[in-house]
Amino acid sequence: MRMVQIEQIFPSLTWRIRHETMYPDQPFDIVKLKDDFDGIHFGLYLDHQLTGVVSLFQDGDIYQFRKLAVLPSAQKMGLGSQLMDYILDFCKIQKATKLWCNARVNAKEFYFKFGFHETDKTFFKDGNDFVVMEKELSS
Ligand SMILES: CC(C)(COP(=O)(O)OP(=O)(O)OC[C@H]1O[C@@H](n2cnc3c(N)ncnc32)[C@H](O)[C@@H]1OP(=O)(O)O)[C@@H](O)C(=O)NCCC(=O)NCCS
Repeated sequence: MRMVQIEQIFPSLTWRIRHETMYPDQPFDIVKLKDDFDGIHFGLYLDHQLTGVVSLFQDGDIYQFRKLAVLPSAQKMGLGSQLMDYILDFCKIQKATKLWCNARVNAKEFYFKFGFHETDKTFFKDGNDFVVMEKELSS
């Protein structure tokens, strides 16, 4: 039985996981966000190894999550879902009214499972199509 733990982590710990998962062919610094030191970051440890990350950014009672990433070797094992469940609970405890993200269009189905819906805001960046997806959290 493999052990999974999720805990809050320092911003810099997210960078290697983001890089290996999302931008392996690009320079390392591309994964650093201007706002990283204003965010709340969570790490998922699989058998004590940091394997997945996600970052939350607060604006009043609205939260955005960014850079949800699970290392390729550990995808499709339910770990991304555990991180999503964790941040949804966290946002509810903080009494957030809404959680949103810029979703890669190819990850849209993943977010539908958690009750996110698409908005009409779409854009293209760094070779990927994105759509803004959101979920109302009130109570
Ligand atoms: C998206 C991501 C975080 C999902 O993590 P994961 O641990 O692989 O997801 P899970 O194993 O919890 O998957 C849960 C369900 O979503 C599905 N799913 C996972 N990734 C998916 C994707 N990209 N598109 C469609 N469905 C997906 C799984 O098949 C699974 O379905 P099931 O419950 O019917 O079996 C991970 O694939 C990842 O890091 N991808 C690269 C980075 C990325 O695209 N991040 C999102 C940017 S918006």
